[in-house]
Amino acid sequence: MSTARTIPVWSPVGDATSDWFETLPPAGAVHDVVVVGAGIAGLTTAACLLREGRQVLVVDREGVGAGETLRTTAHLASALDDRFTLLQRHHGKDGARLAAASHAVAIDWIEGLAAGVPDCGFRRVPGYLYSHTGDEQGLRREMEAARESGLEVHWCEAGEALPARFGPAIRFAAQARIDAGAYMLALAREVRDAGGRFLRADVRRITGGDEPPLHLADDTVLRARAVVAAGNVPFHGTTATFPKQAPYRTYVVAGRVPAGTVPDALIWDDADPYHYVRLRETAEPAWMEILVGGEDHKTGQDDDPEAYVRLQDWTRERFPQVESFHAAWSGQVLEPADGLAFIGADPHHDNVWLITGDSGNGMTHGTLGGLLVADLVQGRDNPWSALYDPGRQPVRAGGEWIRENANAVMQYRDWVRPAQVSKVEEIAPGTGAVLRRGLHRVAVYRAGDGSLHAHSARCTHMGCVVRWSGEEKSWDCPCHGSRFEARTGVVLNGPANAPLEPYALEDED
Ligand SMILES: Cc1cc2nc3c(=O)[nH]c(=O)nc-3n(C[C@H](O)[C@H](O)[C@H](O)COP(=O)(O)OP(=O)(O)OC[C@H]3O[C@@H](n4cnc5c(N)ncnc54)[C@H](O)[C@@H]3O)c2cc1C
Ligand code: FES
Repeated sequence: MSTARTIPVWSPVGDATSDWFETLPPAGAVHDVVVVGAGIAGLTTAACLLREGRQVLVVDREGVGAGETLRTTAHLASALDDRFTLLQRHHGKDGARLAAASHAVAIDWIEGLAAGVPDCGFRRVPGYLYSHTGDEQGLRREMEAARESGLEVHWCEAGEALPARFGPAIRFAAQARIDAGAYMLALAREVRDAGGRFLRADVRRITGGDEPPLHLADDTVLRARAVVAAGNVPFHGTTATFPKQAPYRTYVVAGRVPAGTVPDALIWDDADPYHYVRLRETAEPAWMEILVGGEDHKTGQDDDPEAYVRLQDWTRERFPQVESFHAAWSGQVLEPADGLAFIGADPHHDNVWLITGDSGNGMTHGTLGGLLVADLVQGRDNPWSALYDPGRQPVRAGGEWIRENANAVMQYRDWVRPAQVSKVEEIAPGTGAVLRRGLHRVAVYRAGDGSLHAHSARCTHMGCVVRWSGEEKSWDCPCHGSRFEARTGVVLNGPANAPLEPYALEDED
């Protein structure tokens, strides 16, 4: 199962790798390193540690790339999407310089691995940031901040690099794009060929210690010398990061354009939420696939069935040569309050390491997260460790941080609001709604075949009331972004670590 029903364009990796997963924990009292999560962050960490001679067990409840990694658009950018004017404000000029350099190293690392794999689709391309309102001054400020942060940037007049209708743009050198499916397969192969093992299991809890135990859903307990929690969002009871990052849904449409009519580049704008564009080769040399993302909103809030239509309209307006659209999907990103991921020691659990807070740069954050955590597990200093420390307080992001947390707290009002419907008969096939039953809220989904699937609407993370997402047909929590499958209630996205409680409708009078 993936985290959503919509299907991205990348080749799935699950089938090619599912045989590698064991279902019973390998024997051995204490494992060397256990990495939870077979996304880009977990597998990069595993690959780095295996290169150092460590023994690594990768645990994933679904399989390789089942999380957000294969829902990506795989822009590989050192031109960070939170922008350098903001990064300088939060982290100072030295911090912004270090951030740019760390993402550049991540792109190089990906390039190194992809070099041995001809179909990885790795390509160095420029990046262009333009202003959707024509704010030339804002662009010039960003160009200056990016230059001070060590990036090679140039000013492009309207029509010089992008079509004139985009206005002027900043050009960032040495960005890249990749085929996410092919890359994840190559990365997983590297892990397996280096002796890494894979276990399919749902980890419910990790507690720290000299040999931190991992509690699995079937009550098995694993122990390891070091545990890396790379499940995209911490699910194991640490409060180190979740108040400092906010979950957003983001949407993508894929169409095709005649080759040579759209610059082969990463393109993004300064709208809020911003749009992001890239190309990808197709089997027909005369055509390129264009991937366009945006329309982000907070998870569980403002469910928006029109998001794809608006993205298509936006694309047609800017790229009138788009011939047709053939795919559309959504995924989840975690926006850190100060623009950078949280990577390093879990301040609440000894010998547990975190990689989270990916933002729209999660492919590079995940990769540099692997490099950084491997250094820390090996007991080595790393120049990036203070910058990405999960225990840091984003003090200069105070306003933003307070707003996001106040927004999460406000969502508890759902407990006193009227229910969406009063009777299950009001729920149409293929949709869901929350009902009130005494003091309880019940999340009821009526499948296309008419069958009803009911669960307690109480989110198993911290008790908010989940809401129906018509777009992905899931129960989404508006507080911290946990998501649950409509029929079974199983967790699709953390921080929740347990499914929704089943609710017996037939027990009602
Ligand atoms: C639409 C979209 C577009 C994006 N575009 C870009 C882009 O252009 N450039 C960019 O850099 N980034 C982009 N991102 C972000 C980036 O793709 C992600 O941040 C990144 O892939 C996350 O990788 P990860 O390894 O942290 O998590 P995931 O890929 O989600 O992997 C986590 C894994 O952990 C497993 N897991 C979770 N909890 C448990 C548990 N309790 N027990 C066992 N297993 C568990 C899951 O099954 C999953 O396989 C985009 C994201 C989206 C959604
Ligand atoms: S995700 Fe925290 S209460 Fe639901």
